[in-house]
Amino acid sequence: MDGTLSGMPELEHNGGREDPFAGCRQREAKKPNKPMPLTKIETAKEPRIYTKMKEFDRVLGGGVVPASLVLVGGDPGIGKSTLLLQACDRLAAEGKKVLYVSGEESIRQTKMRAERLGIFRDNLYVLAETDINDIEAYLHDIDPEVLIIDSIQTIYNPDITSAPGSVSQVRECTGSLMRIAKSEGIATFIVGHVTKDGAIAGPPRMLEHMVDTVLYFEGERHHTFRILRAVKNRFGSTNEMGVFEMKESGLVEVANPSEVFLQERTNGAAGSTVVAAMEGTRPVLVEVQALVSPTSFGNPRRMATGVDNHRVSLLMAVLEKRVGLLLQNQDAYVNVAGGIKLDEPATDLAVAISIASSFRDQATEPSDVFIIGEVGLTGEVRRVSRIEQRVNEAFKLGFTRAYIPGKNIGGWTLPKGMEIIGVQTVKEVMDDALGGASHKLSRSAFYQSDT
Ligand SMILES: Nc1ncnc2c1ncn2[C@@H]1O[C@H](COP(=O)(O)OP(=O)(O)OP(=O)(O)O)[C@@H](O)[C@H]1O
Ligand SMILES: [Mg+2]
Repeated sequence: MDGTLSGMPELEHNGGREDPFAGCRQREAKKPNKPMPLTKIETAKEPRIYTKMKEFDRVLGGGVVPASLVLVGGDPGIGKSTLLLQACDRLAAEGKKVLYVSGEESIRQTKMRAERLGIFRDNLYVLAETDINDIEAYLHDIDPEVLIIDSIQTIYNPDITSAPGSVSQVRECTGSLMRIAKSEGIATFIVGHVTKDGAIAGPPRMLEHMVDTVLYFEGERHHTFRILRAVKNRFGSTNEMGVFEMKESGLVEVANPSEVFLQERTNGAAGSTVVAAMEGTRPVLVEVQALVSPTSFGNPRRMATGVDNHRVSLLMAVLEKRVGLLLQNQDAYVNVAGGIKLDEPATDLAVAISIASSFRDQATEPSDVFIIGEVGLTGEVRRVSRIEQRVNEAFKLGFTRAYIPGKNIGGWTLPKGMEIIGVQTVKEVMDDALGGASHKLSRSAFYQSDT
């Protein structure tokens, strides 16, 4: 493997694997930590380094925290190296010294990717190395502010006999990187491959416990959209989401995901509704599609992508029992367009109405209506959080009518020109949206905007 940096002086680190931090670690160990009254502890506002990739910064909780350890997980080929190389570019542009360590690709391969992405920075260093001791020695020499390890599964400590990628190697190397990050104040990003069942390689979740922040980079392989998600963050909100599009020239930030996720929606199709899911602090509008058709073999099939299968079964049971739709001999497929995952109960009502709409083979009337609400087992529609933000997002995208939980009405400002309909039960929405003119809710049920 090509481990030398062109243009770099020959480094004088000994290959003898002596720990260059042994001394300072001892000093650190001797320093006693005294108990302190909470009120006496001084806090400085956490300084942040901004990549100016808005989506990336937001997912991190508002920029990169110096001395933090961030794990970036994702399926093979999803674009982890691309994302981090682009982040390196931005950080280098901000004047930060960055070291990108690749254990998977030669420095020429990395350079080729950089060329494709249009990245040329003098203070972005690239190293192809897998021995953690060598990496540590180079770190001393270059003294970067940001370090990328791509990937943790390729890095090894020669003092341990097991193979790179094994549990003990991954734990040991992550431990070393953590120590370096904290003692030298280097913001460190570690790439981790995700195994098929969703766990980052190594013992499931072990890596996730060790680091400060865990980001997952996901997306459907055949779609160009990629979603960066924080699943753990010691410095910010979790479940923040950043959306990117993979292009030849690299990942492009998608500033308005709602617009993109609704782009391909055909208005007026049966089985389609629009809902606003909260992704961290921001609402994202997505289309929920359902296809219900008679079962041809014994057991009816229930398949869902982007929504929990059990939740779909539960909603179908509610529709059957409380609304009277005969769904037991129907196959049902539910899909959330754009590869988004809905895990909020607030999206129940939209899923239920999509299913009912497909079953009746009838589009909601009007078709560009926005639906939000949690559904209970008695068929009641329960209140949801952040209703104002969700309705505003829908209004921004041109929706002027919404079904919302009746209990959510009042106490917040409705955008001018928006009409919302407060509902108590799933049946009400069914009747009003799918029941034809004779079933429309009485006007008193409407909460009209004051335009
Ligand atoms: N020439 C190209 N034009 C357009 N897209 C490309 C090109 N080369 C690669 N890609 C995209 O980049 C993706 C690979 O990106 P990247 O190498 O960053 O992924 P990764 O997650 O680091 O993969 P690995 O698991 O192999 O490390 C490809 O799947 C493809 O979508
Ligand atoms: Mg890679």
